[in-house]
Amino acid sequence: MARRLSSAIMVTLVAALLQTTVAQKVHVVGDTLGWLVPPDGPIAYAAWAAMQTFSPGDILVFNFTTGQQDVARVSKEAFDTCNSTNPILLETNGPVNFTLSSGGEYYFIGTMEMHCPLGQKLAMYVPPPAPPRAPMTYEVGDGLGWLVPPGGAIAYATWAFNKTFIVGDTLVFNFVNGTQDVAVVTKAAYESCDTTTTTRTVLTTTPAKITLSNPGEHYFTSTYPLHCNWGQQLAINVIASSTAMSPSTSAASPPSTTTKSSSVFAPAAGGPIPPPTSSAPSHIVIGFFYVTFLSSATTFLL
Ligand SMILES: *[C@@H]1O[C@H](CO)[C@@H](O)[C@H](O)[C@H]1NC(C)=O
Ligand SMILES: *[C@@H]1O[C@H](CO)[C@@H](O)[C@H](O)[C@H]1NC(C)=O
Ligand SMILES: *[C@@H]1O[C@H](CO)[C@@H](O)[C@H](O)[C@H]1NC(C)=O
Ligand SMILES: *[C@@H]1O[C@H](CO)[C@@H](O)[C@H](O)[C@H]1NC(C)=O
Ligand SMILES: *[C@@H]1O[C@H](CO)[C@@H](O)[C@H](O)[C@H]1NC(C)=O
Repeated sequence: MARRLSSAIMVTLVAALLQTTVAQKVHVVGDTLGWLVPPDGPIAYAAWAAMQTFSPGDILVFNFTTGQQDVARVSKEAFDTCNSTNPILLETNGPVNFTLSSGGEYYFIGTMEMHCPLGQKLAMYVPPPAPPRAPMTYEVGDGLGWLVPPGGAIAYATWAFNKTFIVGDTLVFNFVNGTQDVAVVTKAAYESCDTTTTTRTVLTTTPAKITLSNPGEHYFTSTYPLHCNWGQQLAINVIASSTAMSPSTSAASPPSTTTKSSSVFAPAAGGPIPPPTSSAPSHIVIGFFYVTFLSSATTFLL
């Protein structure tokens, strides 16, 4: 009973923590303040940026009223001097979505009269993704394999804790045929342990191999009764490699911070994650990018 209770608590805890981690985050600049001349001056957006965790692929939303504000992406020099003469990009129709297409420094200002000097300016840094490496194969749980873990849900969280899952990596689930399966599920199914309606794929023979081919959160559990509730759950966050993030520039010269075209303000790359394609019963491909474990959850748990 004690184990059942602690397992349930742990599952709830893990689920709650996982909810705070999203693959492609949307950052509304200034939050409810929006994008304008802040009452507090330049500190407003510096403080806002310091509170954010940016990743390549995230979206900035500059929420402003057309005609009253605008937003320009500029060089560091232009940012420092509030020079809007030759911006990298200028957007005048609000609200504006800006995709942080790669790691690096980003500078934005309002170009309307005195807006920048009065504090409508945002400087931020996006940590680059992990450097590219050869695809790796991970044996889920290592020697434990894939089963109801004796220690509950923390077992697979601990396993994934210090691992970097990159698009192209493969997960191998080892188990005894007929005693387990691997269900690729939605976040909702993972959290509720209801695998009856939203399960995407079920692999029933060992070793079950899953190649991670798209970025974002991926959730795995079992369709066997109570296995999920008792902690047979794995959640990982797959992130895109630097090469996967910018395929169009891989063969060309690196993008210049001063000559980038208007494609920088690409529309939000939203939309549903493509459904998994299944070519063989025990080897499926889930998407297009890669996976990193949800470190916030494990850091807390450990
Ligand atoms: C943008 O600002 C408007 C007006 O303040 C507000 O109603 C809306 O919710 C904001 N949008 C976002 C995404 O914050
Ligand atoms: C502003 O930038 C433009 C082009 O980048 C440059 O020609 C001009 O000298 C700058 N103005 C000031 C005041 O620095
Ligand atoms: C991850 O942690 C395990 C157990 O502490 C350790 O054996 C392993 O070397 C670590 N791997 C990396 C990549 O840090
Ligand atoms: C599990 O079943 C599959 C399909 O029947 C088979 O190929 C595989 O060898 C079996 N694995 C074990 C360890 O029995
Ligand atoms: C901007 O991003 C928000 C949040 O993801 C989304 O709801 C909205 O549709 C996007 N707008 C455009 C024009 O892409």
